Amino acid sequence: MHNVCRTLPESTERSIQFVVEADESTYDDAPMALDLSAIRREFATLHTNVSGAPVVYLDSAATALTPDSVWEDMRAFEKNARSNVHRGMHVLAERATDAYEAARDTVRTFVGAKHSQEIIFTKNTTEAINLVAHTFGETLEAGDTVLVSELEHHSAIVPWQQLAERKGIVVEWIGTDDNGNVRMDEYEQFLETRRVRLVMITAQSNVLGSRPPLKSMIQKAHTAGAVVLVDAAQFAAHHQVDVQAMDCDFLVFSGHKVYGPTGVGVLFGKRKLLEDMPPFLGGGSMIRTVTKEGFTPADIPQKFEAGTPPITQVIGLASAINWQAQFSWEEREAHERELLAHARKGLATIEGLTLLGTADASGCVSFTVDGVHPHDLTDVIGKQGICLRAGHHCAQPLHARLGVPATARLSVGIYNTTEDIDRCRERITNAVNLLRK
Ligand code: ALA
Repeated sequence: MHNVCRTLPESTERSIQFVVEADESTYDDAPMALDLSAIRREFATLHTNVSGAPVVYLDSAATALTPDSVWEDMRAFEKNARSNVHRGMHVLAERATDAYEAARDTVRTFVGAKHSQEIIFTKNTTEAINLVAHTFGETLEAGDTVLVSELEHHSAIVPWQQLAERKGIVVEWIGTDDNGNVRMDEYEQFLETRRVRLVMITAQSNVLGSRPPLKSMIQKAHTAGAVVLVDAAQFAAHHQVDVQAMDCDFLVFSGHKVYGPTGVGVLFGKRKLLEDMPPFLGGGSMIRTVTKEGFTPADIPQKFEAGTPPITQVIGLASAINWQAQFSWEEREAHERELLAHARKGLATIEGLTLLGTADASGCVSFTVDGVHPHDLTDVIGKQGICLRAGHHCAQPLHARLGVPATARLSVGIYNTTEDIDRCRERITNAVNLLRK
């Protein structure tokens, strides 16, 4: 296993020391128990005071906070080894390239992929989905169908609507029930009766926290000859990803939701599919040769990484993955289940508050309050340092399906405590009383 080493020697060589070293201990040691006080000390943002008290951050579904060590790794790279990748022959360029490619291998391990060439770095989840729509999507023909579920985020909807405008493909919707479970009967019927080429499905709803039965959906899609693109933007922060066990064809997620920096996302694609797809953006690095007559593309993954990539952010993403590898998924999930159960129980005591989704939802709980607009609510408590998101959460079709224009959403991360939830519930209760007057 590779790890970006943040311990730089105090010497005159410091200016070129940015070490990517083998760190077998990173994944192989027994995982640590969750020591929440210690974890919280690693997140500077949690110690920011608002109105005389530290913020209560319950908006990790929008963006998770980042441990200080990730910033230190990024800073160490910028200060001591900043250089471009896959271009120069000098020592800094070599070190930058080594760190960048080591990060690709860290991400490969994180998602359980077989080959590091199956990992493409993008700007974010949205760009990764657009990449597939503009490459695999270009191989579709008028009349071909792309299935999209009602749970999807706009980034998993609009690129297919744009493809429909460009190529005349058909976008069909897999319905959901009131709790965010996909209608498998509708799904199977579409697969039987339409020429389905691609299924776009989230692994975890960013509003309801529900998780579609991906394995069975993927098997059924493959039997029907369709490929599956999984949006793991939410899921990847709350559950281990295993693209080989899932057998998905594509999977996407963002660095900033898995405790890494903004500005970096990941597309996993099965090697053969990526090899057969045309390039996305044209430019430096994605070519093998360029003549006045035309160009030949580079092999994957470079074929899909035109221009200077977000090098520092990629290094930060690997650092964030290595940071969280010290904790077991079992403990993280048990901790988050406890937080959400505590939240649902506490919120349910507030008069006029309706919880959406089910008790087994992951990552978040969304709700409405009679007579109070979610924006007003989160504005009032936000000024008191309680950070929640409100609105349609970039999932307007899902809100239309649920019959509400907007919801408030409380979402959790590894660093949250039941005290955070209690403070939030108390402030919501007071705000609701104030806003209802
Ligand atoms: N997709 C992110 C959210 O759900 C931004 O808030």
